[in-house]
Amino acid sequence: MITRKVGFIGAGNMANALIQGMIQSGQFSIEQIRINNKNSMPRRRKMAGAYSIPYVGKQELLRWADVLILAVKPQDLFGVLEEINPMITERKLIISIAAGVDIKSIDSMLTTKCPIIRAMPNMSARVLTSATALSMGKLVLSKEMDFARRIFFCVGSVHQVEESQMDAVTGLSGSGPAYVYTFLKAMVEGGEQVGLSHEDASELALQTLKGAIEMISVTGDDPAALTKQICSPNGTTLAGLGILESHHFEETVVEAIRAATQRSAELRQENQQRQANKKVI
Ligand SMILES: NC(=O)c1ccc[n+]([C@@H]2O[C@H](COP(=O)([O-])OP(=O)(O)OC[C@H]3O[C@@H](n4cnc5c(N)ncnc54)[C@H](OP(=O)(O)O)[C@@H]3O)[C@@H](O)[C@H]2O)c1
Repeated sequence: MITRKVGFIGAGNMANALIQGMIQSGQFSIEQIRINNKNSMPRRRKMAGAYSIPYVGKQELLRWADVLILAVKPQDLFGVLEEINPMITERKLIISIAAGVDIKSIDSMLTTKCPIIRAMPNMSARVLTSATALSMGKLVLSKEMDFARRIFFCVGSVHQVEESQMDAVTGLSGSGPAYVYTFLKAMVEGGEQVGLSHEDASELALQTLKGAIEMISVTGDDPAALTKQICSPNGTTLAGLGILESHHFEETVVEAIRAATQRSAELRQENQQRQANKKVI
């Protein structure tokens, strides 16, 4: 049984998803979780109503929790770190899910050094199927990393990466759900254009995506090999694939991931600048 006490700072969408997963998994009890949030009463009521998790002030949260999950927007993170800095002790474990803020920047805001883990989940955490990447700071013990893994396993899969790869993770799995939604939207539109109702096209396209993903998951086969199995000489699939190829579909997806990765690096640098300005003030 997990006994560490987990305090969330920020009770928005991602915190809600994580708490839901942690409790539904049965690995964490409600008594092990407390929340701090800036204001926003409707959100508080939603969280408290759904799980009866206590809302507390930052001082109380810091005194009580062994692990702090920082689940505020990146632009709010440095303000939060400034607030909690005096209450940080050596063996508090900090897990930050803020996109584009590196461990070094978090560490440099703290007077007392403590272990810091950075996590990059994605939106599918809300339906417990996130692809989450974790990277660890220098002071993190393997049991602390195991603990972080257990939290994020509650909302999907977990992969450990070097922190230098976090921009790439953001470009691939962080932004990835949006690429898939865009593809799905185009499939539905295509279905409608060739004569199907919106409802039928939506259901057929969604089930086709689900089935294709399930096939890869179950068989572990290479996507290119599976594609080949569907194609018959001079058949329909080859006709469709020919159009995707002539419009550089694969290269376009690769470029999208490159652009998102590059933007993540830029945002990280902007956050570093924001943090440097905050320290000067
Ligand atoms: N959503 C995603 O799909 C996703 C994926 C990967 C990573 N992330 C990261 O997860 C973090 C949270 O994202 P989110 O989508 O959950 O955002 P969100 O729904 O806006 O939640 C952020 C929460 O932080 C609270 N907050 C702001 N300042 C605070 C302070 N000083 N003290 C305590 N609470 C404070 C906000 O309260 P108020 O409402 O009262 O202002 C809000 O409830 C972000 O850094 C984001 O980069 C999100």
